Amino acid sequence: MTTPSSSPDRYAKSRALFERAQHSVAGGVNSGIRKMEAPVPLYFSHGRGSRLYDVDGNEYIDFQIGQGAILYGHAPEGMADAIAAQARKGLHWAAQSELEIEVAERLQAMIPSAERVRFNSSATEVVLAAFRLARAHTGKPLILKFEGHYHGWGDEGLVGFAPPPDQWGTEDEPSQLHPSAGVIKEVLEQFVVARWNDIPHLHKRVAQFHGRIAAIVFEPCCCNTSCMEPVPGMLEAIRELCNAEGALMIADETITGFRFGAGGAQQFYGVKPDLTILGKAIGGGVPFAALAGREALFSTITSGKVVHAGTLNGNPLCLAASKWCLDEILRVGSDHPKSVKNLGVLLMEGLRSLADKYGIPLRPQGPGLVFHTTMLKPGASEGTIAEYRDYARRHDAPRWAHLRRCLLDEGVRAIERGLWFISLAVSRADILEALQRAEVAFARHAREWKHV
Ligand SMILES: Cc1ncc(COP(=O)(O)O)c(C=O)c1O
Repeated sequence: MTTPSSSPDRYAKSRALFERAQHSVAGGVNSGIRKMEAPVPLYFSHGRGSRLYDVDGNEYIDFQIGQGAILYGHAPEGMADAIAAQARKGLHWAAQSELEIEVAERLQAMIPSAERVRFNSSATEVVLAAFRLARAHTGKPLILKFEGHYHGWGDEGLVGFAPPPDQWGTEDEPSQLHPSAGVIKEVLEQFVVARWNDIPHLHKRVAQFHGRIAAIVFEPCCCNTSCMEPVPGMLEAIRELCNAEGALMIADETITGFRFGAGGAQQFYGVKPDLTILGKAIGGGVPFAALAGREALFSTITSGKVVHAGTLNGNPLCLAASKWCLDEILRVGSDHPKSVKNLGVLLMEGLRSLADKYGIPLRPQGPGLVFHTTMLKPGASEGTIAEYRDYARRHDAPRWAHLRRCLLDEGVRAIERGLWFISLAVSRADILEALQRAEVAFARHAREWKHV
């Protein structure tokens, strides 16, 4: 049962557990971003389908879905059975199994660029493998990446992600900034940062480092900042520049993979990268990720020239889970991603209508399969946000945080930074119920915000 939103102690048990955790878990959480959840990082007891339940008994229609990993909803029966059956046969062999071929063959059949694959346990690791492989294959040192695009929490993946305005660098030459201390400056020097969705700027950036770029890496739809889809010609420009430079085109499909359809964003937008990074939905909530790409590119790995390793790579438990996930995508067939997209669009339009009704400057943006809600600052212009700096200038983070808290209190869970994921377990009835709940939250936000 859901605790009434007026209850003062709605999150009492989560608060108590978070307090207890301070004495054993550093900072009380195991991933920095989780600390952002207000009013307190929540503790969950169980989930089923579209719903998630916290230890206080509050029920949420969940649009956070494990940061996008749980594309199949919470605790699908078939997946639980597949994992349990494998667990009885063996958890980990650090060796080969037929399962890994079965998963690899499914990926080959689904993803246009997947001639060969290698497995890891997280997309962060796969990003490192992709960059190493690109440098070894091309003999060039630099990786070009875009502001606002997230490629895992490693030293290399985070360069240029969400820099503060006073350290942006110029429009022409974005700085190579890393949000973490402890990263040596030589790592930053291996990156060229460009602004997203500015094709002439990208051409100039590549020309500036002509002959030294090993790869261009990107989120095909930049879900990690405001869900910015590529402007027409952007992905084609990356492809052409990579061809001209002899650089590799690396699509980071950690979020878009399987969500945008069986063939991911590369099929959705019609581009063919050289390498593809897959994470999240490939494992549906278990630690599983893959590097996919052209056969010839893997020769540096197969020859042993490039080291690729990992104790838990190709772990049978994760493979059993992944096989179930991929079969689920194939089972849904041509309905996917259409139905997810339609439901996402219904939610986006409903949120936009509520925003208009209550005079809240909230603007949903994205392809529906995933979307972002930007809260416009007073006086900020309308219109699509196409690059990170534009987002940083226009988004009113404190005001969004207040609305997000109101939504949480009504049992609608979006990601703290404004991202919403639709799972295959969500129905039209779930969306309509979420919008009913959201209306109460929007009304409260409209009442309270001016007093905050
Ligand atoms: C686009 C993208 N790449 C890479 C990663 C890293 O994935 P993981 O946290 O599984 O290592 C993420 C995680 O959110 C991501 O969104």
